[in-house]
Amino acid sequence: MSDPLLHAHEIAVSFGGVGALAGVDLTVPARSIVGLVGPNGAGKTTLFGVLSGLLSPRSGRVELAGADVTRASPQRRARLGLARTFQRLELFDELTVRDHLVVARRIRERRDRSLLRDLVGLGRRPSPGEDEAVDALLDLLDLGKFANQPVPLVPLGTGRIVELARALATEPRVVLLDEPTSGLDVHETERVATALRAARADRGVAFVLVEHDVELVLQLCDDITVLDFGRVIAHGPPDEIRASADVQAAYLGTAPAQKTPR
Ligand SMILES: Nc1ncnc2c1ncn2[C@@H]1O[C@H](COP(=O)(O)OP(=O)(O)O)[C@@H](O)[C@H]1O
Ligand SMILES: [Mg+2]
Repeated sequence: MSDPLLHAHEIAVSFGGVGALAGVDLTVPARSIVGLVGPNGAGKTTLFGVLSGLLSPRSGRVELAGADVTRASPQRRARLGLARTFQRLELFDELTVRDHLVVARRIRERRDRSLLRDLVGLGRRPSPGEDEAVDALLDLLDLGKFANQPVPLVPLGTGRIVELARALATEPRVVLLDEPTSGLDVHETERVATALRAARADRGVAFVLVEHDVELVLQLCDDITVLDFGRVIAHGPPDEIRASADVQAAYLGTAPAQKTPR
């Protein structure tokens, strides 16, 4: 079997002597959607910090595309194909949806000497090649009708898909998504799910999904890891997770209100 695209092995993290993660493993095969769930404070965002390079684990190892990146910078991980979105939207107010995607592509290419000007005013017009790539992405994620709107004017659910589109514009191999449906209604949640499926099918991208909506995770993910108090309490395909008594006790029974019906 070939190596997984992203693999975390025996990760331990502590904050001021208090353990936040202990012995945590996570395996993300190429083109998979892996769910990471657990109650508040379980350590999900902390694990994302370790995977993306914002946090250094006390022990353990992170491998990305065959390289040991345990101590590598977020920039190096990005070059190896890792992208992430954040729990709250991190978009620029002045730019349209389309401009966000052009800027994201330019950051990836790193050939652009006037990146700062691009970030402020999008100084250089997009080339035909840039336009074509951005149009394809807008199409794929059904964002066409919002393309020329400034981001503050698009609904929250669309904003989340713009965040996803921006991550995909960097042509990643794996994207970490921290609660992409928080604050969304059932229809917007369904749009996000559709966008993820489309991105995987069309681009072969893998996702790690931190998500409160357990039903969504059970529907969307190939494989799910459940954290509780910084430890893995269950791991497996959706059927097993649904059936696990430990998960029921620790989590599913006390899950926050879900956006049913779907
Ligand atoms: N920067 C930090 N400093 C101190 N403690 C932290 C920090 N970040 C997270 N924690 C603690 O680590 C634990 C896991 O938090 P977190 O990863 O944010 O959980 P989750 O995302 O699953 O809700 C919690 O007990 C939290 O209070
Ligand atoms: Mg969190």
